[in-house]
Amino acid sequence: MNKVKLKYDPNLSIKENAAMCGVSESAVRKYIRTNGIDRNYDNKVAKKRAILTLKEENPSISLAEMAHRLGYSVNTIRKYLQMDLGQSKITTSKVSTFDLSNKKFIIKSVSDDQTEILMNILRLYVHKDTFDCDLTFSKGVFYQHISMPKLKFDKYPLKKDVLPLEKVEDIKDASLHSIVIDLPFIVKDYKSAQTSMIAQRFNYFSSVKELYETNTSMISLAFRKLHKNGFLIMKTMDFVFGSSQHWVGNFVQNTANEIGFVLYDTFILVSRTKILTTKGEKQHFARKYHSYFFVFRKGKKHK
Ligand SMILES: C[S@@+](CC[C@H](N)C(=O)[O-])C[C@H]1O[C@@H](n2cnc3c(N)ncnc32)[C@H](O)[C@@H]1O
Repeated sequence: MNKVKLKYDPNLSIKENAAMCGVSESAVRKYIRTNGIDRNYDNKVAKKRAILTLKEENPSISLAEMAHRLGYSVNTIRKYLQMDLGQSKITTSKVSTFDLSNKKFIIKSVSDDQTEILMNILRLYVHKDTFDCDLTFSKGVFYQHISMPKLKFDKYPLKKDVLPLEKVEDIKDASLHSIVIDLPFIVKDYKSAQTSMIAQRFNYFSSVKELYETNTSMISLAFRKLHKNGFLIMKTMDFVFGSSQHWVGNFVQNTANEIGFVLYDTFILVSRTKILTTKGEKQHFARKYHSYFFVFRKGKKHK
């Protein structure tokens, strides 16, 4: 495809892919054709993954209930539970986007596009078209090309359908499959916050202590609300305050680990737009040009 950065998601229908990328359905079909993608095989893998994820979340669920929730027949559910898709049954020259031995579809740890990272996390780990819950929804920039999560919260809600953070307590403990957290990474004292354009109250902490304490309490909250094997996706960034480096990424990893999460993956978002200013001062540290998306899993060691 000429220059169209199409983020094809094999879990979605052609129509959904078109809507997500803001292109026509025929553009998606052309992308599938030009890249020789085996849509049939991809559909089977996506279906099997959805079935296995539901079963993993609800180990004692009946076939009938699975059929009801996923909109397939009981026979289809039974067939897919038994089906071995471990080996590609592709006999043509077509390729599967789930086939990670194909260079073109390999999921990389670095990107300059956060939508790509979020979609890759959904594809590689969550196996759904979106996350269950976002605890720091804000304006929902994460969901410009991804379906909205059913549960949206924020400490300072900006939108009508976003609930105040306290309402998370209404959700049953150990019931969610995936949670997203994206806390501010700016610390400002009151005076400088008054004059700063970007540091509105909801986008900064008033002390480094508040930043660390909030990170800890939010990770604990996510741990409580996720079911066993559930995923926490946490965006964070290291920063410099005063003349000290704050390795928030390390802090988040260690804290999550102490609470009971296992780090499954790290994605690095490289900044495209950061403006480089020098103010004529001597440089002390490398200018931060990246943030992290950590994928944690509740209490399950990575194979
Ligand atoms: C960087 S924004 C999140 C942006 C969001 N991911 C999006 O796609 O638009 C950080 C969010 O953290 C929330 N926040 C600020 N202070 C907080 C605190 N002490 N506890 C919990 N959330 C807080 C803010 O209200 C804000 O919505």
